[in-house]
Amino acid sequence: MSLEGKLALVTGGGRGIGRAIALKLASQGADIVINFFRRRDTAEQTAKEVQALGVKAEIIRANVGDPAKIDEMFGVIGDKFGHLDILISNAASGVGRPIMEVDVKAWEWTMDINTRACLLCSQRAARLMEGRGGKIVSLSSLGSFLVWPTYAVVGVSKAALEALTRYLAIELAPLGICVNTVAASFVETEALKFYFDEQLGKDKLPITPAGRMVTTEDVANVVAFLCSEEAFMIRGQTIIVDGGFSIYNPLSVLERKD
Ligand SMILES: NC(=O)c1ccc[n+]([C@@H]2O[C@H](COP(=O)([O-])OP(=O)(O)OC[C@H]3O[C@@H](n4cnc5c(N)ncnc54)[C@H](OP(=O)(O)O)[C@@H]3O)[C@@H](O)[C@H]2O)c1
Repeated sequence: MSLEGKLALVTGGGRGIGRAIALKLASQGADIVINFFRRRDTAEQTAKEVQALGVKAEIIRANVGDPAKIDEMFGVIGDKFGHLDILISNAASGVGRPIMEVDVKAWEWTMDINTRACLLCSQRAARLMEGRGGKIVSLSSLGSFLVWPTYAVVGVSKAALEALTRYLAIELAPLGICVNTVAASFVETEALKFYFDEQLGKDKLPITPAGRMVTTEDVANVVAFLCSEEAFMIRGQTIIVDGGFSIYNPLSVLERKD
């Protein structure tokens, strides 16, 4: 699957799952724009790793929770490249609280970064994809339909993201743009440490029926597939990458008594 000559923007591409996606797309020949917000160091390091794969890398600082900063970021991409082929809406944040403690600020912070940013980035990206088609992939999580402690507002933001994906997929289809979401289970990144390690304990993190945890590379592989022409007929879907975790029923391994 070659992405030679394509230009991809990965929001939050400096570390974690975003970094793995940036490297995977670069390994297939795409030039990469890495968006970051706070961690310039990791964005620069990832850009170096991308360049070492023989393609171009740019880094752009922008808080995707701020519409004006999204406009600025796409202004820079438009001026510098004049087009975009792939948008990976990966950046996420969130406030981990029990639902009775979720206030307006926590709600808006999380929804603005996790959901509204995908809408605004997709609108801007679609203009830069005009006449050449494109791919948009966002990152969701199992918390969109499973309930985790203190994950309420993030889970709701991801459920809205999945619904947004369906609308984008249909309304952008006439422009030749494919839109999908990849939802992963637990992946060992800083986000995971933030949400789960302290509350559940690292030893409590579930191994999947596949026998190990999902890695950043597992997620990046599926994202890259959705960016390929082979995935052209997949539209508006949430592809779950969880080693079978979300469908596993422990009772299914019990032996019958008779
Ligand atoms: N880890 C998991 O278990 C898991 C499971 C399912 C889904 N996901 C999803 O996968 C995606 C990546 O998760 P991750 O675990 O790799 O996260 P992470 O390690 O916490 O990294 C978050 C990334 O988002 C960027 N970011 C955060 N707020 C931003 C903002 N306002 N503007 C621009 N960039 C911002 C960060 O940029 P800086 O580096 O500049 O701070 C960083 O690159 C997220 O959408 C997450 O919800 C993760």
